[in-house]
Amino acid sequence: MQKTFSIIKPDAVKSGKAGNILALLESNGFRIVALRMAKLSQSQAEGFYAVHAERPFYGSLVKFMTEGPVILMALEREDAVKKLREVMGATNPANAAEGTVRKLYAESIERNAIHGSDAPETAAQELQYFFNNIELSQL
Ligand code: CMP
Repeated sequence: MQKTFSIIKPDAVKSGKAGNILALLESNGFRIVALRMAKLSQSQAEGFYAVHAERPFYGSLVKFMTEGPVILMALEREDAVKKLREVMGATNPANAAEGTVRKLYAESIERNAIHGSDAPETAAQELQYFFNNIELSQL
């Protein structure tokens, strides 16, 4: 079993798609280990996306991620990091496969409904960024 980190982004929460996305994740074998709704502060969003700080879209991305509530999740299944990225679909919804979260619910390459960690090492860092060890322990 492997854990990964995911965020249902402000666009999808605002448009009322969070429940559909959670159902799609569960139907793809993910178990919800921890879940919390939050409105990210500027510094939380900047820190989370620090790896993208030099990208031209960084400022806009931080603004988007702080515009409304998000749902932070720790998810578990076999091969969770890779499988979540398959279920999410390509970053740009125009390139996302049929049936993926982003094909179904994303508005654009930036307002793309969901985040998922890109590697096991990143997942460990991102889980620690938002959840404590008690929240991440088996329930
Ligand atoms: P995410 O998987 O959370 O990782 C970084 C985020 O930056 C990405 O999803 C998008 O929300 C955003 N992003 C990536 N590429 C672009 C781009 N070319 N223009 C605008 N936003 C982008």
